[in-house]
Amino acid sequence: MSSARSIAVLGAGGFIGSHLVPALLALPGVQVEAVDRDFRKLDVEGPALRRHVCSIDAPGLLDDLCQRCELVVSLTALCTPALYNTDPLAVIDASYSHLLPLVERCSARGVRLLHFSTCEVYGRLALDSAGAPMQHMREDETALFLGPVARERWSYACAKQLLERVIWAHGQHRGLDFTIVRPFNVIGPRMDFIPGVDGEGVPRVLACFMNALLRGEELLLVDGGRQRRSFVSIGDFVDGVVRIVERPAAARRQIVNLGHPGNDVSIRELGEALAREYARQVPAAPSARFRTVSSAEFYGEGYDDSERRLPDVEKARALLDWEPRATLRGMLPEIVADYVKRYGPLLGEQPRAEQTAHA
Ligand code: UGA
Repeated sequence: MSSARSIAVLGAGGFIGSHLVPALLALPGVQVEAVDRDFRKLDVEGPALRRHVCSIDAPGLLDDLCQRCELVVSLTALCTPALYNTDPLAVIDASYSHLLPLVERCSARGVRLLHFSTCEVYGRLALDSAGAPMQHMREDETALFLGPVARERWSYACAKQLLERVIWAHGQHRGLDFTIVRPFNVIGPRMDFIPGVDGEGVPRVLACFMNALLRGEELLLVDGGRQRRSFVSIGDFVDGVVRIVERPAAARRQIVNLGHPGNDVSIRELGEALAREYARQVPAAPSARFRTVSSAEFYGEGYDDSERRLPDVEKARALLDWEPRATLRGMLPEIVADYVKRYGPLLGEQPRAEQTAHA
Protein backbone atom coordinates (compact mmCIF):
# COMPACT_ATOMS: atom_id res chain seq x y z
CA MET A 1 0.00 0.00 0.00
CA SER A 2 1.41 3.39 -0.97
CA SER A 3 1.81 6.02 1.76
CA ALA A 4 -0.42 8.64 0.06
CA ARG A 5 -3.51 7.63 -1.86
CA SER A 6 -5.77 10.03 -3.67
CA ILE A 7 -9.36 8.94 -4.16
CA ALA A 8 -11.87 10.94 -6.19
CA VAL A 9 -15.50 10.63 -5.07
CA LEU A 10 -18.05 11.82 -7.63
CA GLY A 11 -21.36 12.57 -5.94
CA ALA A 12 -19.64 13.01 -2.57
CA GLY A 13 -22.37 15.30 -1.24
CA GLY A 14 -25.22 12.81 -1.57
CA PHE A 15 -26.59 10.39 1.03
CA ILE A 16 -24.04 7.60 0.44
CA GLY A 17 -21.18 10.00 -0.30
CA SER A 18 -21.73 11.91 2.92
CA HIS A 19 -21.20 8.68 4.89
CA LEU A 20 -18.49 7.23 2.67
CA VAL A 21 -16.15 10.25 2.55
CA PRO A 22 -15.51 10.36 6.34
CA ALA A 23 -14.86 6.59 6.29
CA LEU A 24 -12.33 6.99 3.47
CA LEU A 25 -10.64 9.90 5.26
CA ALA A 26 -10.18 7.64 8.28
CA LEU A 27 -8.00 5.26 6.24
CA PRO A 28 -4.25 5.76 6.54
CA GLY A 29 -2.75 8.13 3.99
CA VAL A 30 -5.96 8.76 2.08
CA GLN A 31 -6.74 12.10 0.46
CA VAL A 32 -10.20 12.64 -0.99
CA GLU A 33 -11.11 14.83 -3.94
CA ALA A 34 -14.84 15.29 -3.44
CA VAL A 35 -17.05 16.43 -6.34
CA ASP A 36 -20.65 17.55 -6.07
CA ARG A 37 -22.87 20.51 -6.81
CA ASP A 38 -24.20 20.53 -3.25
CA PHE A 39 -22.22 19.69 -0.12
CA ARG A 40 -24.80 20.49 2.55
CA LYS A 41 -24.86 16.87 3.74
CA LEU A 42 -21.09 16.44 3.94
CA ASP A 43 -20.19 17.64 7.39
CA VAL A 44 -16.42 17.06 7.48
CA GLU A 45 -13.40 19.28 6.95
CA GLY A 46 -9.66 18.81 6.98
CA PRO A 47 -6.50 19.07 4.95
CA ALA A 48 -7.01 15.63 3.39
CA LEU A 49 -10.32 16.70 1.84
CA ARG A 50 -10.60 18.86 -1.25
CA ARG A 51 -14.03 19.90 -2.47
CA HIS A 52 -14.93 20.66 -6.06
CA VAL A 53 -18.31 22.38 -6.23
CA CYS A 54 -19.33 21.50 -9.78
CA SER A 55 -20.95 18.80 -11.89
CA ILE A 56 -18.90 15.94 -13.31
CA ASP A 57 -18.98 17.40 -16.81
CA ALA A 58 -17.09 20.57 -15.74
CA PRO A 59 -14.40 21.19 -18.37
CA GLY A 60 -11.13 19.42 -17.59
CA LEU A 61 -12.34 17.96 -14.28
CA LEU A 62 -12.22 14.27 -15.18
CA ASP A 63 -8.84 14.65 -16.86
CA ASP A 64 -7.41 16.36 -13.78
CA LEU A 65 -8.85 13.80 -11.39
CA CYS A 66 -7.66 10.87 -13.48
CA GLN A 67 -4.17 12.35 -13.44
CA ARG A 68 -4.06 12.87 -9.68
CA CYS A 69 -6.08 9.94 -8.34
CA GLU A 70 -5.48 6.22 -8.31
CA LEU A 71 -9.12 5.39 -7.64
CA VAL A 72 -12.36 7.04 -8.75
CA VAL A 73 -15.58 6.23 -6.90
CA SER A 74 -18.61 7.08 -9.03
CA LEU A 75 -21.82 7.68 -7.13
CA THR A 76 -23.68 10.18 -9.30
CA ALA A 77 -27.17 9.24 -10.54
CA LEU A 78 -30.79 10.36 -10.46
CA CYS A 79 -31.97 7.46 -8.34
CA THR A 80 -35.50 8.33 -7.24
CA PRO A 81 -38.06 6.13 -9.06
CA ALA A 82 -40.52 9.01 -9.48
CA LEU A 83 -38.16 10.43 -12.13
CA TYR A 84 -37.76 7.25 -14.19
CA ASN A 85 -41.06 7.61 -16.03
CA THR A 86 -41.37 11.40 -15.80
CA ASP A 87 -37.87 12.53 -16.81
CA PRO A 88 -36.30 9.42 -18.37
CA LEU A 89 -33.92 11.28 -20.67
CA ALA A 90 -32.28 13.05 -17.74
CA VAL A 91 -32.19 9.74 -15.85
CA ILE A 92 -30.51 7.94 -18.75
CA ASP A 93 -28.00 10.75 -19.19
CA ALA A 94 -27.10 10.78 -15.51
CA SER A 95 -26.69 7.00 -15.33
CA TYR A 96 -25.14 6.39 -18.72
CA SER A 97 -24.22 9.16 -21.18
CA HIS A 98 -22.57 11.45 -18.62
CA LEU A 99 -20.50 8.58 -17.23
CA LEU A 100 -19.14 7.17 -20.49
CA PRO A 101 -16.28 9.73 -20.58
CA LEU A 102 -15.33 8.70 -17.05
CA VAL A 103 -15.12 5.01 -17.91
CA GLU A 104 -13.10 5.76 -21.04
CA ARG A 105 -10.63 7.96 -19.15
CA CYS A 106 -10.16 5.47 -16.31
CA SER A 107 -9.58 2.74 -18.85
CA ALA A 108 -7.10 4.76 -20.92
CA ARG A 109 -5.17 6.10 -17.91
CA GLY A 110 -5.04 2.92 -15.82
CA VAL A 111 -7.13 4.41 -12.99
CA ARG A 112 -9.12 2.02 -10.84
CA LEU A 113 -12.91 2.58 -11.01
CA LEU A 114 -15.35 1.72 -8.23
CA HIS A 115 -18.76 2.22 -9.78
CA PHE A 116 -22.09 2.19 -7.99
CA SER A 117 -24.75 0.49 -10.05
CA THR A 118 -28.07 -0.68 -8.60
CA CYS A 119 -30.02 -3.75 -7.49
CA GLU A 120 -32.61 -2.45 -9.90
CA VAL A 121 -30.69 -4.04 -12.80
CA TYR A 122 -32.18 -7.40 -11.68
CA GLY A 123 -35.57 -6.02 -12.62
CA ARG A 124 -39.00 -7.26 -11.63
CA LEU A 125 -38.00 -10.45 -9.82
CA ALA A 126 -35.23 -13.01 -9.60
CA LEU A 127 -35.16 -15.48 -12.52
CA ASP A 128 -32.39 -17.79 -13.62
CA SER A 129 -31.12 -17.86 -17.18
CA ALA A 130 -33.84 -20.35 -18.15
CA GLY A 131 -36.53 -18.09 -16.73
CA ALA A 132 -37.16 -20.20 -13.61
CA PRO A 133 -37.72 -18.31 -10.34
CA MET A 134 -34.79 -17.95 -7.94
CA GLN A 135 -35.07 -16.79 -4.39
CA HIS A 136 -31.92 -14.68 -4.14
CA MET A 137 -30.41 -12.35 -6.70
CA ARG A 138 -26.92 -13.58 -7.59
CA GLU A 139 -24.44 -11.36 -9.39
CA ASP A 140 -23.19 -13.85 -11.94
CA GLU A 141 -26.25 -16.07 -12.38
CA THR A 142 -29.50 -14.18 -12.11
CA ALA A 143 -31.01 -12.93 -15.39
CA LEU A 144 -31.78 -9.23 -15.72
CA PHE A 145 -35.52 -9.10 -16.27
CA LEU A 146 -36.85 -5.66 -17.22
CA GLY A 147 -40.35 -4.78 -18.36
CA PRO A 148 -41.42 -3.50 -21.79
CA VAL A 149 -40.01 -0.23 -23.15
CA ALA A 150 -43.35 1.50 -22.62
CA ARG A 151 -42.88 0.80 -18.92
CA GLU A 152 -40.49 3.72 -18.50
CA ARG A 153 -39.75 2.68 -14.94
CA TRP A 154 -36.99 0.55 -16.41
CA SER A 155 -35.19 3.44 -18.15
CA TYR A 156 -32.92 3.76 -15.11
CA ALA A 157 -32.20 0.04 -14.72
CA CYS A 158 -31.52 -0.31 -18.44
CA ALA A 159 -29.11 2.66 -18.48
CA LYS A 160 -27.35 1.30 -15.40
CA GLN A 161 -27.16 -2.15 -16.95
CA LEU A 162 -25.67 -0.80 -20.18
CA LEU A 163 -23.00 1.11 -18.26
CA GLU A 164 -22.18 -2.08 -16.34
CA ARG A 165 -21.71 -3.82 -19.69
CA VAL A 166 -19.45 -1.02 -20.96
CA ILE A 167 -17.34 -1.18 -17.78
CA TRP A 168 -17.19 -4.96 -18.01
CA ALA A 169 -16.06 -4.81 -21.64
CA HIS A 170 -13.35 -2.29 -20.79
CA GLY A 171 -12.22 -4.70 -18.08
CA GLN A 172 -12.14 -7.72 -20.37
CA HIS A 173 -10.74 -6.08 -23.48
CA ARG A 174 -8.87 -2.94 -22.42
CA GLY A 175 -7.53 -3.86 -19.00
CA LEU A 176 -9.72 -1.57 -16.85
CA ASP A 177 -9.43 -2.39 -13.15
CA PHE A 178 -12.97 -2.00 -11.85
CA THR A 179 -15.45 -3.10 -9.22
CA ILE A 180 -19.19 -2.66 -9.65
CA VAL A 181 -21.34 -2.48 -6.52
CA ARG A 182 -25.06 -3.23 -6.62
CA PRO A 183 -26.57 -1.58 -3.51
CA PHE A 184 -29.83 -3.04 -2.16
CA ASN A 185 -31.96 -0.33 -0.54
CA VAL A 186 -29.41 1.35 1.70
CA ILE A 187 -31.05 3.42 4.44
CA GLY A 188 -29.77 5.74 7.14
CA PRO A 189 -29.63 9.31 8.36
CA ARG A 190 -29.56 12.01 5.65
CA MET A 191 -31.30 9.88 3.04
CA ASP A 192 -32.96 11.81 0.20
CA PHE A 193 -34.97 14.92 1.12
CA ILE A 194 -38.25 16.17 2.51
CA PRO A 195 -40.40 17.66 -0.29
CA GLY A 196 -40.86 21.39 0.11
CA VAL A 197 -38.00 21.66 2.62
CA ASP A 198 -34.76 20.61 0.97
CA GLY A 199 -35.95 19.14 -2.32
CA GLU A 200 -38.87 18.87 -4.70
CA GLY A 201 -40.66 15.82 -6.06
CA VAL A 202 -41.07 12.34 -4.61
CA PRO A 203 -38.13 10.86 -2.66
CA ARG A 204 -37.62 7.15 -1.95
CA VAL A 205 -39.94 5.31 0.36
CA LEU A 206 -38.14 5.97 3.66
CA ALA A 207 -38.25 9.74 3.16
CA CYS A 208 -41.85 9.56 1.84
CA PHE A 209 -42.96 7.80 5.02
CA MET A 210 -40.98 10.11 7.32
CA ASN A 211 -42.41 13.12 5.50
CA ALA A 212 -45.94 11.81 6.12
CA LEU A 213 -45.25 11.06 9.80
CA LEU A 214 -43.64 14.46 10.44
CA ARG A 215 -46.55 16.29 8.80
CA GLY A 216 -49.23 14.10 10.36
CA GLU A 217 -50.37 12.97 6.91
CA GLU A 218 -51.32 9.53 5.59
CA LEU A 219 -48.60 7.08 4.65
CA LEU A 220 -49.34 6.06 1.07
CA LEU A 221 -48.93 2.37 0.22
CA VAL A 222 -48.40 1.98 -3.49
CA ASP A 223 -50.57 -0.91 -4.74
CA GLY A 224 -51.13 -1.95 -1.12
CA GLY A 225 -47.47 -2.10 -0.03
CA ARG A 226 -47.10 -5.86 -0.58
CA GLN A 227 -43.88 -5.47 -2.59
CA ARG A 228 -40.77 -6.38 -0.61
CA ARG A 229 -37.34 -4.84 -0.16
CA SER A 230 -34.27 -5.86 1.87
CA PHE A 231 -32.93 -2.84 3.71
CA VAL A 232 -29.26 -2.53 4.63
CA SER A 233 -27.89 0.07 7.02
CA ILE A 234 -25.59 2.75 5.67
CA GLY A 235 -23.02 1.70 8.29
CA ASP A 236 -22.85 -1.90 7.05
CA PHE A 237 -22.89 -0.71 3.48
CA VAL A 238 -19.99 1.73 3.92
CA ASP A 239 -18.05 -1.00 5.71
CA GLY A 240 -18.47 -3.18 2.61
CA VAL A 241 -17.36 -0.37 0.28
CA VAL A 242 -14.28 0.37 2.39
CA ARG A 243 -13.35 -3.32 2.22
CA ILE A 244 -13.55 -3.10 -1.57
CA VAL A 245 -11.26 -0.07 -1.54
CA GLU A 246 -8.81 -1.88 0.72
CA ARG A 247 -8.84 -5.20 -1.18
CA PRO A 248 -8.19 -4.27 -4.79
CA ALA A 249 -6.97 -7.72 -5.81
CA ALA A 250 -10.01 -9.56 -4.40
CA ALA A 251 -12.47 -7.03 -5.83
CA ARG A 252 -10.80 -6.66 -9.24
CA ARG A 253 -13.28 -7.01 -12.12
CA GLN A 254 -16.05 -8.21 -9.84
CA ILE A 255 -19.71 -7.24 -9.55
CA VAL A 256 -20.75 -7.37 -5.89
CA ASN A 257 -24.16 -7.16 -4.20
CA LEU A 258 -24.18 -5.24 -0.93
CA GLY A 259 -27.44 -5.74 0.93
CA HIS A 260 -28.96 -7.49 3.94
CA PRO A 261 -31.11 -10.53 3.08
CA GLY A 262 -32.16 -10.80 6.74
CA ASN A 263 -34.01 -7.47 6.53
CA ASP A 264 -36.52 -8.54 3.86
CA VAL A 265 -39.86 -6.87 4.65
CA SER A 266 -42.93 -5.67 2.77
CA ILE A 267 -43.30 -1.92 2.28
CA ARG A 268 -46.33 -2.01 4.57
CA GLU A 269 -44.21 -3.63 7.29
CA LEU A 270 -41.56 -0.94 6.84
CA GLY A 271 -44.23 1.76 7.24
CA GLU A 272 -45.63 0.12 10.36
CA ALA A 273 -42.18 -0.22 11.92
CA LEU A 274 -41.36 3.44 11.19
CA ALA A 275 -44.72 4.55 12.60
CA ARG A 276 -44.12 2.58 15.83
CA GLU A 277 -40.67 4.09 16.26
CA TYR A 278 -41.95 7.58 15.49
CA ALA A 279 -44.72 7.22 18.06
CA ARG A 280 -42.14 6.10 20.62
CA GLN A 281 -39.94 9.14 19.97
CA VAL A 282 -42.76 11.67 19.48
CA PRO A 283 -45.55 10.48 21.79
CA ALA A 284 -47.64 13.61 21.17
CA ALA A 285 -47.87 12.95 17.43
CA PRO A 286 -51.21 11.77 15.97
CA SER A 287 -51.47 8.03 15.22
CA ALA A 288 -50.17 7.01 11.84
CA ARG A 289 -52.75 6.41 9.12
CA PHE A 290 -52.19 4.33 5.98
CA ARG A 291 -53.93 4.55 2.62
CA THR A 292 -53.52 2.41 -0.46
CA VAL A 293 -52.97 4.23 -3.75
CA SER A 294 -52.49 2.84 -7.24
CA SER A 295 -49.05 3.18 -8.77
CA ALA A 296 -50.55 5.15 -11.70
CA GLU A 297 -52.02 7.63 -9.22
CA PHE A 298 -48.77 7.92 -7.26
CA TYR A 299 -46.13 7.83 -9.99
CA GLY A 300 -48.12 8.33 -13.20
CA GLU A 301 -48.32 6.08 -16.25
CA GLY A 302 -45.30 4.00 -17.17
CA TYR A 303 -44.41 2.98 -13.62
CA ASP A 304 -43.69 -0.66 -12.86
CA ASP A 305 -42.23 -2.34 -9.80
CA SER A 306 -39.88 -4.96 -8.45
CA GLU A 307 -41.89 -7.50 -6.45
CA ARG A 308 -39.04 -8.50 -4.23
CA ARG A 309 -35.30 -7.92 -4.05
CA LEU A 310 -33.44 -10.42 -1.95
CA PRO A 311 -29.66 -10.14 -2.32
CA ASP A 312 -27.34 -13.09 -2.28
CA VAL A 313 -24.28 -11.83 -0.37
CA GLU A 314 -22.12 -14.95 -0.55
CA LYS A 315 -19.75 -13.24 -2.95
CA ALA A 316 -19.27 -10.23 -0.67
CA ARG A 317 -18.67 -12.62 2.23
CA ALA A 318 -16.09 -14.64 0.31
CA LEU A 319 -14.21 -11.76 -1.32
CA LEU A 320 -14.44 -9.17 1.41
CA ASP A 321 -15.09 -11.14 4.60
CA TRP A 322 -18.09 -8.82 4.95
CA GLU A 323 -21.25 -9.46 6.92
CA PRO A 324 -24.22 -7.07 7.17
CA ARG A 325 -25.20 -6.89 10.83
CA ALA A 326 -27.74 -4.16 11.63
CA THR A 327 -31.33 -5.37 11.86
CA LEU A 328 -34.13 -3.14 10.63
CA ARG A 329 -35.41 -2.80 14.17
CA GLY A 330 -31.93 -1.87 15.37
CA MET A 331 -31.36 0.84 12.78
CA LEU A 332 -34.72 2.64 12.86
CA PRO A 333 -34.24 4.57 16.15
CA GLU A 334 -31.22 6.46 14.82
CA ILE A 335 -32.86 7.11 11.45
CA VAL A 336 -36.11 8.41 12.91
CA ALA A 337 -34.23 10.54 15.46
CA ASP A 338 -32.23 12.11 12.62
CA TYR A 339 -35.35 13.07 10.64
CA VAL A 340 -37.09 14.39 13.74
CA LYS A 341 -34.08 16.47 14.72
CA ARG A 342 -33.46 17.89 11.25
CA TYR A 343 -36.99 18.45 9.98
CA GLY A 344 -39.36 18.48 12.96
CA PRO A 345 -38.73 22.14 13.84
CA LEU A 346 -38.93 23.21 10.17
CA LEU A 347 -42.31 21.57 9.82
CA GLY A 348 -43.69 23.30 12.89
CA GLU A 349 -43.86 20.19 15.05
CA GLN A 350 -42.63 20.16 18.62
CA PRO A 351 -41.04 16.75 18.56
CA ARG A 352 -39.52 15.40 21.73
CA ALA A 353 -36.97 12.95 20.42
CA GLU A 354 -35.79 10.72 23.24
CA GLN A 355 -32.12 10.59 24.01
CA THR A 356 -32.14 6.79 23.86
CA ALA A 357 -31.73 6.37 20.10
CA HIS A 358 -29.46 3.37 19.67
CA ALA A 359 -28.20 1.66 16.55
C1 UGA B 1 -34.92 2.65 -5.68
C2 UGA B 1 -33.96 2.87 -6.84
O1 UGA B 1 -34.59 2.78 -8.05
C3 UGA B 1 -32.83 1.92 -6.83
O2 UGA B 1 -31.88 2.24 -7.80
C4 UGA B 1 -32.13 1.93 -5.56
O3 UGA B 1 -31.12 0.96 -5.59
C5 UGA B 1 -33.10 1.66 -4.47
O4 UGA B 1 -34.19 2.58 -4.49
C6 UGA B 1 -32.37 1.81 -3.18
O5 UGA B 1 -32.74 2.61 -2.35
O6 UGA B 1 -31.35 1.12 -3.05
P1 UGA B 1 -37.07 1.27 -5.02
O7 UGA B 1 -36.71 0.32 -3.92
O8 UGA B 1 -38.17 0.83 -5.89
O9 UGA B 1 -35.74 1.55 -5.89
O10 UGA B 1 -37.42 2.72 -4.44
P2 UGA B 1 -38.35 3.29 -3.30
O11 UGA B 1 -38.79 4.63 -3.75
O12 UGA B 1 -37.63 3.26 -2.01
O13 UGA B 1 -39.64 2.37 -3.29
C7 UGA B 1 -39.73 1.14 -2.63
C8 UGA B 1 -41.15 0.65 -2.72
O14 UGA B 1 -41.99 1.49 -1.92
C9 UGA B 1 -41.75 0.68 -4.12
O15 UGA B 1 -42.51 -0.49 -4.31
C10 UGA B 1 -42.68 1.89 -4.11
O16 UGA B 1 -43.77 1.76 -4.98
C11 UGA B 1 -43.13 1.91 -2.66
N1 UGA B 1 -43.55 3.24 -2.11
C12 UGA B 1 -42.77 4.33 -2.29
C13 UGA B 1 -44.72 3.34 -1.38
O17 UGA B 1 -45.47 2.35 -1.19
N2 UGA B 1 -45.07 4.54 -0.85
C14 UGA B 1 -44.33 5.65 -1.00
O18 UGA B 1 -44.70 6.72 -0.46
C15 UGA B 1 -43.13 5.53 -1.75
